[in-house]
Amino acid sequence: MIEGIRRIQEMMEREQYVTDRGIATTAYLAMELKKPVLIEGQAGVGKTEIAKVLSSALGTELIRLQCYEGLDVNTALYEWNYPKQMLRIKMDEGSRRGIDAQEQAIFSDAFLLKRPLLQAISGQEQAPVLLIDEVDRADEEFEAFLLEVLSDFQVTIPELGTIRAQHRPYVVLTSNRTRELSDALKRRCLYLWIDFPTFDKEVRIITTKVPGINERLAHQIAMFMQAIRHVKLNKTPGVAETLDWAMSMMALHQDHLEQDAVRETLGAFIKDRDDVAKLRGQPLEVLISSMNGQEEEDVSAWVQSVTQRLEKELSTR
Ligand SMILES: Nc1ncnc2c1ncn2[C@@H]1O[C@H](COP(=O)(O)OP(=O)(O)O)[C@@H](O)[C@H]1O
Ligand SMILES: [Mg+2]
Repeated sequence: MIEGIRRIQEMMEREQYVTDRGIATTAYLAMELKKPVLIEGQAGVGKTEIAKVLSSALGTELIRLQCYEGLDVNTALYEWNYPKQMLRIKMDEGSRRGIDAQEQAIFSDAFLLKRPLLQAISGQEQAPVLLIDEVDRADEEFEAFLLEVLSDFQVTIPELGTIRAQHRPYVVLTSNRTRELSDALKRRCLYLWIDFPTFDKEVRIITTKVPGINERLAHQIAMFMQAIRHVKLNKTPGVAETLDWAMSMMALHQDHLEQDAVRETLGAFIKDRDDVAKLRGQPLEVLISSMNGQEEEDVSAWVQSVTQRLEKELSTR
């Protein structure tokens, strides 16, 4: 493996992010090629965390732009501090300052409110990590504007002139794929798809993030998750839910999965009313009763057989 990729993998693992080869390679290339990375995947698979981990591994600032429907350029880039400008005008009333001088004063840096994109571009010290989170929730119009910013890393403010990035930020965009992003944006980025973790990866994530958890419980939770993700649910649990559940089990001093404890902690990882109703009772029993004693066996064979039984169980309802 290329030395640089291995180093990034180690850096991210040191920040407690379980990193596979694909993720490390993309992070490495993004830095080498100075290209933004677009990370797609279901909710809770570890997309946002990558930006956080990168910034702490690099010892650089994390600047986050959370996208939502209706997000506009002002909120993302800059705004003038209107109340402060008004105050200044009031204070200057009666002074003999010319209109031009006054205008220059109130449209200067001191009256500028830098929003995330401008902050990321105007960093003086070193390149920050710019996280543009859940970009699929913003409108297409905003996406087009982003494209512009990401292509030249410069912004023109009519009253001030053009601000060009001295240190090009490391850009991470994430998307939950609620809509397809434009080809133009994708073309500008390196692409990383993060899937739900494999059994081995999820065990590692649990033992890394929930220190002190016993191995058997970690294995059982990871097995359970592998199986439950094959069931058609309104909201399939991601890694965030796995960790919440593992911590809940620890808080209840449970060292393995059993019916009652699972039923009581269902809300830690199933967060939809219909899904709870679907799983309650027999399906949970099928899952858990077939699990005990299977920890050392072939996990994928177990997942296959138990999901078949679950499907049968659910289809008879
Ligand atoms: N590979 C991983 N290693 C360690 N923790 C992870 C990993 N993947 C996900 N997590 C954890 O799962 C949770 C959800 O991750 P997050 O990045 O918020 O998901 P997303 O942005 O994809 O919805 C976080 O607490 C994160 O630390
Ligand atoms: Mg996220």
